[in-house]
Amino acid sequence: MQDVTDLAFWKLIAGYGGPDVYFTEYFRVTTGYRPRREILRSIIENPTGRPAVAQIIGNDPEWMVRTARSLELHPVAAIDLNLGCPAPVVYRKCAGGGLLRDPGRVDALLGALREGIAGRFTVKTRLGFSNPQEFDRLLGIFSRHRLDMLTVHARTVTEKYGPRVHHDRVADAVRALPFPVVANGDVSSSDDAVRVLGATGARGLMIGRGAIRNPWIFRQIRDRLAGRQPDLPSGRDVLAYIGALYELGGTNGAPERARVQRMKKFTGFIGEGISQDFLHAIRRVSTGREFFDTCRQALDHDRPMPLAPVSGQG
Ligand SMILES: Cc1cc2nc3c(=O)[nH]c(=O)nc-3n(C[C@H](O)[C@H](O)[C@H](O)COP(=O)(O)O)c2cc1C
Repeated sequence: MQDVTDLAFWKLIAGYGGPDVYFTEYFRVTTGYRPRREILRSIIENPTGRPAVAQIIGNDPEWMVRTARSLELHPVAAIDLNLGCPAPVVYRKCAGGGLLRDPGRVDALLGALREGIAGRFTVKTRLGFSNPQEFDRLLGIFSRHRLDMLTVHARTVTEKYGPRVHHDRVADAVRALPFPVVANGDVSSSDDAVRVLGATGARGLMIGRGAIRNPWIFRQIRDRLAGRQPDLPSGRDVLAYIGALYELGGTNGAPERARVQRMKKFTGFIGEGISQDFLHAIRRVSTGREFFDTCRQALDHDRPMPLAPVSGQG
């Protein structure tokens, strides 16, 4: 995830169990593009012991293929094409989710990438631009291109991060496609994982915000699938996790105010699993001391923390 799941974050969550596969932040490919060094570092210095997939986003077939090929010179498990980003700066330029408005262009880009990529080629998509029924046509296109895997974030672009996730459409993809399908969207607990895997028949799950909110989630899911009762972290465990995230921001000598601002991004997600009061309070802090006082007030206890969104938002 952009500006979140960098090398340092990968290293941190690997210590909590981590996922089976890591995806980079996307490389935003435009004409003349050279892969950004900071993102490349996640691949070259991958500290997780697990495979890394390089994600690219853009619409220029020639430069997308060139970039994919140059990324394949590094230890990547696959090249993944992003067809889902709903940020206006991206989709208005017909990249990410914006490409879903033009299925013919998606078809051509997939053809070029499949031909140009020597190793595994995977796609991460939403269901369509504005209507989940658009997915029918996309499935026809995906099935023609010998993908190695498709991850489906089961919302349209215009639904952004809204309340509804159309897992029934992931089940349609599983039935229609000859390659593995992974389900994505609102998996926040091991209960969600079991429910979504059961409802979709997907081969696996991609977890985004749930991993920021609850880095224990991967271990919890593994335990649950192995028939063991998952452990929940305590408030103090969550406090220690927030402390570790704060330390990540210290490695490049950033001033305190910038570190607190960056932490607010993380606690915006983590706070959804704590309380509305915490979310309100943390928005108002400006110093490191205020930040940690607020965290301690909410988390300095030994009660178990499910860390799923408390009011259904997110
Ligand atoms: C801050 C942020 C950054 C994201 N960046 C990316 C990205 O670079 N590539 C991508 O495929 N998805 C990105 N996403 C989308 C997530 O991967 C995921 O599809 C979405 O959040 C739904 O899954 P979740 O409910 O597990 O978070 C991002 C989401 C957020 C909130």
